[in-house]
Amino acid sequence: MTSDLPSLTQSAEWRALQNHATAISGLHMRDMFARDPKRFAQFSLREGSLLLDYSKNLITAETIKLLVDLALVRQVPQRRDAMFSGARINTTENRAALHVALRNRAEGRGLVRPVIIDGVDVMGDVLHTLMRLREFSESVRDGSWTGSTSKPIRHIVNIGIGGSHLGPMFVTDALKDYQRDDLSVAFVSTLDRTQIDDVLKSRDPATTMFVITSKTFTTVEAMSNAAIAREWISSSLGEHAIPRHFAAVSTNHRATTEFGIPAASVFPMWDWVGGRYSVCSAIGLPIILACGFDTFDCFLSGAHAMDLHFEAAPLEQNMPFLLAMLGIWYAEFFQAPAMAILPYDYRLKLLPFHIQQVDMESNGKCTTLAGTPVETHTGPIVFGGGGSDSQHSFFQFLHQSPRLIPCDFIAAIKTRRGADPSRDVLLANCFAQTEALMKGRMISELQHIPEELRRHRAFSGSRPTNTILLDSLTPIALGQLVALYEHKVFVQGAIWGLNSFDQWGVELGKELAKSLEPAVSGAELLAERDSSTAGLVAAYLEAKRRSV
Ligand code: F6P
Repeated sequence: MTSDLPSLTQSAEWRALQNHATAISGLHMRDMFARDPKRFAQFSLREGSLLLDYSKNLITAETIKLLVDLALVRQVPQRRDAMFSGARINTTENRAALHVALRNRAEGRGLVRPVIIDGVDVMGDVLHTLMRLREFSESVRDGSWTGSTSKPIRHIVNIGIGGSHLGPMFVTDALKDYQRDDLSVAFVSTLDRTQIDDVLKSRDPATTMFVITSKTFTTVEAMSNAAIAREWISSSLGEHAIPRHFAAVSTNHRATTEFGIPAASVFPMWDWVGGRYSVCSAIGLPIILACGFDTFDCFLSGAHAMDLHFEAAPLEQNMPFLLAMLGIWYAEFFQAPAMAILPYDYRLKLLPFHIQQVDMESNGKCTTLAGTPVETHTGPIVFGGGGSDSQHSFFQFLHQSPRLIPCDFIAAIKTRRGADPSRDVLLANCFAQTEALMKGRMISELQHIPEELRRHRAFSGSRPTNTILLDSLTPIALGQLVALYEHKVFVQGAIWGLNSFDQWGVELGKELAKSLEPAVSGAELLAERDSSTAGLVAAYLEAKRRSV
């Protein structure tokens, strides 16, 4: 495996795909279906609890073959194997990217496969941490861990941002049917104090536990909310109460100790787990407290099952690989600027936000692993929302905009809440939308309406969708789904030759905010700044002056 891959766009495999795209772009997907009644069977795949239907794509068997050829020349299997082996593939930070170790587990009666970094098997630490998480969460949930006034904990408030927020919040919400009614969980992330004030308003300090999830324990949003929470507890229960009302997940043990959290309530992170890939680590503590350790353990098993599939399945039948290459196909050869994630399940409504970070923070980059400018657009704009609601907001764009937006539709067949006739209607809508996007409606089919309206009422169709059907929204299926998108993003990064595990693009804004703070608070005069920034600061200070 090498970081200086030859040119992507000059490769014979790329050119073959370009030619193929030109040849295929004249075809309509509805004709592809009409010609081949077995298209669904050919272009669908089952893996565990997930069924992927990718037949409603502008592809033929030849497309898949050419996409596999491109992946081979971009060394995708070698990069995947390097990730699983613990190699330091995050080269700009000199780190491994080993989120797969977090859910690595024994098969049958066998031993857990070792995962080695620099000669050390990290599985000892991983398993030990899981055991500690089990013990800690059980003591909180069964009431044997009490607050400083001996009352059991009834409210969990997670404080974190980015990967220490979006993943745990999404999974906790998705598994709401596995939660107990007598333990509430809330998530606080932003610098806007309104959020934490709203959360604390309805909580009793004596029965509240804060979990500070921050890999670095320096992130300004997390630290500022942690300070507010600390003050809220100490002013009401006294300073001595802090150890009973705070737990933390971090790599920065000095900072957690200084904050006053005893080592027994601090759970480790490792530099080889990226924030947006950390939902399977101790960062999942709010999930565990809300849903119980066994539920979280099933979630990890699901993610592990997808890891095994990603590692071993031939590329042509490899779910993350296929999703990734279909994304490349449209982004590069059909100029699709974005992709939409559309869950048809209320419990999956936060999935688009989690995947947005996983994808856009990983592959929104303009420099390759070799340090050269990228040759193409790289990662897509990822957006989405609950399918039912989105049908009545941005679906118009998906159906009739000249821009092509490939979509992932995601639905669960069963829920834990039992038989529900309204789900039939929900799923009918999900399937119908993919059908409408695929088929369209030609002007020739609109002879019964006035001529001047026909163009307005026509649909081009031939718009690509994937449908991912979960047998049931179980923790296992959810783990599979999360790992599916993580690996999809990894494959795309490998095709573009990116390091998908750093995020230097978030640094400049953080730095400038820090340097602006003294001026915005009025403590210092604003030093040399552009006229727009200076004008905004002046307007803010002036308004503040007027309001006092
Ligand atoms: O600002 C980006 C980022 O570094 C994310 O990658 C990360 O998930 C988030 O901030 C939070 O970081 P931490 O867990 O260190 O508070």
